[in-house]
Amino acid sequence: MAAPEIYSPGLEGVIAGETAISTVTGGLRYRGYPVTQLAEKCCFEEVAHLLLHGDLPNSAQLREFRHRLWAYAQLPSQVNTFLHEAPRKAASMDVLRTAVSMLALHDPDTGDNSRAANLRKAERLLAQIPLALATAYRAGKGQPIVRPAADLGFAANLLYMVRGTPPDDFERKAFDVSLILYAEHEFNASTFTARVVCSTESDLHSSVVAAIGALKGPLHGGANEKVMDVLFAAGGPETAEAWLRAAMERKQKVMGFGHRVYKTGDVRARVLKEYARQATARAGMQKWEETAEIIERILAAEKNLFPNLDWPAGRLYHAMGLEIALYTPFFVAARVSGWSAHVIEQLENNRIIRPRARYTGPDERMVPDPA
Ligand code: ACO
Repeated sequence: MAAPEIYSPGLEGVIAGETAISTVTGGLRYRGYPVTQLAEKCCFEEVAHLLLHGDLPNSAQLREFRHRLWAYAQLPSQVNTFLHEAPRKAASMDVLRTAVSMLALHDPDTGDNSRAANLRKAERLLAQIPLALATAYRAGKGQPIVRPAADLGFAANLLYMVRGTPPDDFERKAFDVSLILYAEHEFNASTFTARVVCSTESDLHSSVVAAIGALKGPLHGGANEKVMDVLFAAGGPETAEAWLRAAMERKQKVMGFGHRVYKTGDVRARVLKEYARQATARAGMQKWEETAEIIERILAAEKNLFPNLDWPAGRLYHAMGLEIALYTPFFVAARVSGWSAHVIEQLENNRIIRPRARYTGPDERMVPDPA
């Protein structure tokens, strides 16, 4: 007798593998630590170390980790040239995806799938991606490239390289928290993509390139670039309710809301909302927080829909004066730590990921004989 067919559209609720990296069951935790505590007490480098190496670093390990990232923060001249010459109209995620693919051509460990080589490649990408996204951004505007500063941490340097001035303490912390919250999230679409790719015994760069492609879509990481479009379309607190009701009538999705797993709210959104609120107050942009509040209230009450992380992230970045085209690349800069951890984990206990499909095509039919 054939085994009963199990089918869940979008793989909803399907356990597609095992992981020790994070869980969303009982509250989001990275390797056991609640993400709320990591956001409050740690910096992004500590969290990246936790994801890649299995534990939070002690002070010597953190120093060495930062030292390695500093040493790896170099781009091959061919990648640098590409970033300067990429078409101005190209999507920032396409440029970044191509740059990561090019980095594979120059990495001495590309074809080596050992754990040690994958950790080296992951750390190199962690250091190179901020440089690549900032170079593409500034070169695209005809601005001089800003080298990272030795006395700034990961989050502050990323902001510094993009804007050309170091952030103040509030901005550094707010941005750092956003990176920590973006770093890892179990079997989301891009992480699953990375695992599928490396399950064929392909390499880490290929997995990350594919994951960037998956992240780009507006139903996943691309949503953080759509949040301000929603708020601009809503127009402000006076018009938000009318706009939302018309959007609901049209069955339009409100980007930054809803989640496959979180049906009563996303803890990451609650953490980052406070930073978005403070940032908009500092920038004199309370109008967008008030607009966001109205949309949140109505969607919760009438559609049982709650914000995901992208909803406050888009507002935070906008209030910090960051251009929208940078938002999903920032997500990449953080999530490459989680993707890489998953690639390493998948390869340590690998079985090719190859599900089945339910066939919905025509019944068997015969090719006609030639006339
Ligand atoms: N706006 C309006 N309605 C929504 C939204 C939304 N943002 N999200 C879900 N719904 C509705 C759906 O239309 C559906 O209604 P129906 O039952 O009447 O057809 C119901 O809620 C269930 O939604 P699904 O689409 O089935 O949920 P699914 O789990 O498949 O999708 C997803 C989850 C993709 C996140 C979805 O909520 C969505 O498209 N949200 C907007 C995009 C977004 O913000 N993505 C970011 C995800 S988080 C992240 O990447 C950090």
